[in-house]
Amino acid sequence: MNEEQRKHQTENVKSDASSTKTEKDYSKYFQSVYIPPSLKDAKKRGKEKIAYHNDFGIEERFRGLGEGRKFYIRTYGCQMNEHDTEVMAGIFMALGYTATNSTEDADVILLNTCAIRENAENKVFGELGHLKSLKRERPDLLIGVCGCMSQEESVVNKILKTHQHVDMIFGTHNIHRLPNILHDAYMSKAMVVEVWSKEGDIIENLPRVRRGEIKGWVNIMYGCDKFCTYCIVPYTRGKERSRRPEEIIHEVRQLAAQGYKEITLLGQNVNAYGKDFDDVTYGLGDLMDELRKIDIPRIRFTTSHPRDFDDHLIEVLAKGGNLVEHIHLPVQFGSTDILKIMARKYSREHFLELVGKIKKAMPNVALTTDIIVGFPNETEEQFEETLSLVREVGFEAAYTFIYSPREGTPAAKMTDNVPMEVKKDRLQRLNALIGEYAKEAMKRYEGQIVEVLIEGESKNNPDILAGYTRRSKLVNVKAPKEVIGKIVKVKITDARSFSLNGEFIEEGVIGSEFLEGVEVE
Ligand code: SAH
Ligand code: SF4
Ligand code: F3S
Repeated sequence: MNEEQRKHQTENVKSDASSTKTEKDYSKYFQSVYIPPSLKDAKKRGKEKIAYHNDFGIEERFRGLGEGRKFYIRTYGCQMNEHDTEVMAGIFMALGYTATNSTEDADVILLNTCAIRENAENKVFGELGHLKSLKRERPDLLIGVCGCMSQEESVVNKILKTHQHVDMIFGTHNIHRLPNILHDAYMSKAMVVEVWSKEGDIIENLPRVRRGEIKGWVNIMYGCDKFCTYCIVPYTRGKERSRRPEEIIHEVRQLAAQGYKEITLLGQNVNAYGKDFDDVTYGLGDLMDELRKIDIPRIRFTTSHPRDFDDHLIEVLAKGGNLVEHIHLPVQFGSTDILKIMARKYSREHFLELVGKIKKAMPNVALTTDIIVGFPNETEEQFEETLSLVREVGFEAAYTFIYSPREGTPAAKMTDNVPMEVKKDRLQRLNALIGEYAKEAMKRYEGQIVEVLIEGESKNNPDILAGYTRRSKLVNVKAPKEVIGKIVKVKITDARSFSLNGEFIEEGVIGSEFLEGVEVE
């Protein structure tokens, strides 16, 4: 929390505490909170030490705020946002609200938004448009916008101008202030805007309601300092801050004791874990080496940055056990020239060398990636370098995106001579190539016995159960419902483009992807 925010907060508390008015009277005098975002401030990286707190609690005056009220949260974007939603759901429940799955039923609707590409933002503005009529019918309904889009000035201005039915806007750094923000929104007639442009400290004891009881997310760090020139995340999520290892280990142990089967460690750039500690030298490799001793079947992490992926981590991951043989390693582009302009701080050669090291240490590894197509002034030759890199690595899957300029980032200022039709055509060619490799990877499963964590009924057929292998392959299998939440052995009978079909054998952990291992060239 910076000085301005602290001052604001104490002022707010003082004015509330000194008021003797009833809620009704009070609303007339209430000055609604207005702290808009600033991308310029969000760009700054200070040297202040991050403090860790364990003192979150619901203030007496907010107790019961949610009695008889229901909340609904719609989440856009990455796992980080999904996990923030779990925290906000936890805060709502602590305030006495109950959850609902329908906007019609809800007394508070929150949109937890993503700013990564323009189309992500358009979806949110579309949804806000739909909610307008709901608000007209039920003026008591509270509508809030939070998450990464709230951190952008242009978004807040647009909402102020054209979506006056929104009651509150808050950002990614102050979700622990949800009780105050809700309270302010109930009291105020004007829109409550409280967005911190600078990250706060780490609060360890925030409540959370996890989405399921099989797989759990655990944040290991927050923020990103990489400032890739196309990316908005360093502005929306603040500077890199790592949680202390003992807190992470404790949380994973707790989840293991509660029966969770799989943990995904979260961070925008998990390979920078621990770089901000000034008292110990401790990195992701050290953390994984501790976590692999915990009795839980599977541990994954996302997302890796190739630059900080070190040999120690590779050595630890190669030990296997509960550390799965799947690494999501976004490369973004295949040409060193463009990687340089993107400020990824590695070359094509360095990336390929890293992949070589990983494959050597983990012969069964599945590598997946993210790729951007149509970066400003990308030439056909440069694009073809991306294609040849995909061939050289043989990624088993990839998320591919057409570059989307983000206001405030350096790349958004670059002129761009590549027409949209060319970008779309390149995306299609890339997807076709990746599809071939994905198909080949799936084909290799036919006849193999694999380990599957059964998550529930298949989306299309309730008689079939579905789950994932350690290398994140979706498997559909006919099996008794009792195995939901358990790890089972399945013989793969046929491979589809995005999933595998198989026959149930028995319950049991294999501890590697395949019962008898396959050789990967
Ligand atoms: N921290 C992760 C990425 C998070 S964003 C990492 O560095 O790998 C997820 C993906 O969105 C990125 O990997 C990138 O491929 C894509 N992306 C980010 N900014 C983008 C933009 N402006 N336009 C198109 N795609 C973008
Ligand atoms: Fe964005 Fe780059 Fe940070 Fe990933 S590492 S979140 S792409 S700035
Ligand atoms: Fe989107 Fe924010 Fe995640 S921009 S991808 S929700 S960190």
